[in-house]
Amino acid sequence: MPSALPAGDPAPSDGSLPDSALGELGDRSISLYLHVPFCSTRCGYCDFNTYTAAELGSAPGASREAYLAAAHAELAVAAQVLGPRELSTVFVGGGTPTLLEAKELVGLLDAARRLFPLASGAEVTTECNPESVDQRYLEALVEGGFNRISFGMQSARPHVLRVLERRHTSGRVPDVTRWARAAGFSSLSLDLIYGTPGESLDDWRTSLEVALSCEPDHVSAYALIVEDGTRLAAQIRRGELPAPVDDDQADFYELADSTLGAAGMDWYELSNWSRAGHECRHNLAYWRGDSWWGVGPGAHSHVAGVRWWNVKHPRSYSAALAQGRSPAAARELLDPEARRVERVLLESRLAEGLTVDVLTATERGRVAHLAQRGLIAEHAGRLTLTLRGRLLADAVVRDLLD
Ligand SMILES: C[S@@+](CC[C@H](N)C(=O)[O-])C[C@H]1O[C@@H](n2cnc3c(N)ncnc32)[C@H](O)[C@@H]1O
Ligand code: SF4
Repeated sequence: MPSALPAGDPAPSDGSLPDSALGELGDRSISLYLHVPFCSTRCGYCDFNTYTAAELGSAPGASREAYLAAAHAELAVAAQVLGPRELSTVFVGGGTPTLLEAKELVGLLDAARRLFPLASGAEVTTECNPESVDQRYLEALVEGGFNRISFGMQSARPHVLRVLERRHTSGRVPDVTRWARAAGFSSLSLDLIYGTPGESLDDWRTSLEVALSCEPDHVSAYALIVEDGTRLAAQIRRGELPAPVDDDQADFYELADSTLGAAGMDWYELSNWSRAGHECRHNLAYWRGDSWWGVGPGAHSHVAGVRWWNVKHPRSYSAALAQGRSPAAARELLDPEARRVERVLLESRLAEGLTVDVLTATERGRVAHLAQRGLIAEHAGRLTLTLRGRLLADAVVRDLLD
């Protein structure tokens, strides 16, 4: 079951933005996120805003066709509000974007490109579930302009994939990554999850080794989060599965960092490692506080200090756009202090670090103590978490902030 949306202020029904935000944005390029809210089944741990065919039923407005029409309409709203400007990155996520036909995904990208030209060298990514594509599908995505792909591998161990309720088999990822390379993707990423109940450190080592044998340019490794309301949370509550243990999660993280580092992939964000030049520029735009428009049910957007989020259900989403209204559920205008705190929270996750100038005098006074404890290091006016600091990132940032 997807989780609830935050509250917020009313959002204008025409999607308009305050002049101050548009003024701050100037003629800068933005990033575009497209959310595809469909999955063939729901993995037991996932509370993302995604729906199976059974959950959606046959009600009008929740079909794939209705979604596509609405997403095209929201792109037109974005173009009207933002005016002509380039897209620096495009990222199609989900859900399972590759449940759409390749020509439908490419059609969305084409529509975006007609409204906003792509910047030269723009990064164009789609997420992809390994079981959902074949070689021809991947070729069609490259022909249509996608140049980066991120496969949801999660694990190479069959018993871990079973607990996660994933549909692909462990042998599938080497096949799809080979096809993706042959198709011509210039950057290839794998998503992994660690700390699944029943997963040993050796299982995790195997997953990392199999992932590296596929020669990815980029790896995201996330600690399994037990989200309220998921089947996994219920299984743990009933004692059918053990809960993840914090100390074990630290061992998994350290193994990921040393194994990926030895293979030439450095961390650039807490949960992300890449070969030089293959950092995900789209996600960096989020972490650096840049502007992006999120199209699709439940998608979040941020433009120059204005944050808004769309209604979650595909039916309400397409109903709003069919009536010519913005699908935004609510929005928030961030004041300078909220934006400053957000910068601290996001930039401290990055290897490039947090600019010391963002901190208040009191916060700066706490830096020496955190450095003495081996949690952060200061270099050329920037603060970066050490490996120990990365393991305790949330606590370090809490200790730093007023
Ligand atoms: C929401 S999925 C969308 C892409 C695609 N459907 C997939 O599963 O790979 C993006 C990533 O979030 C991860 N994710 C989802 N729920 C999670 C959780 N509770 N804990 C950790 N990672 C999670 C997924 O495993 C996946 O790698
Ligand atoms: S396939 Fe991805 S988005 Fe869909 S339920 Fe599983 S983790 Fe969530």
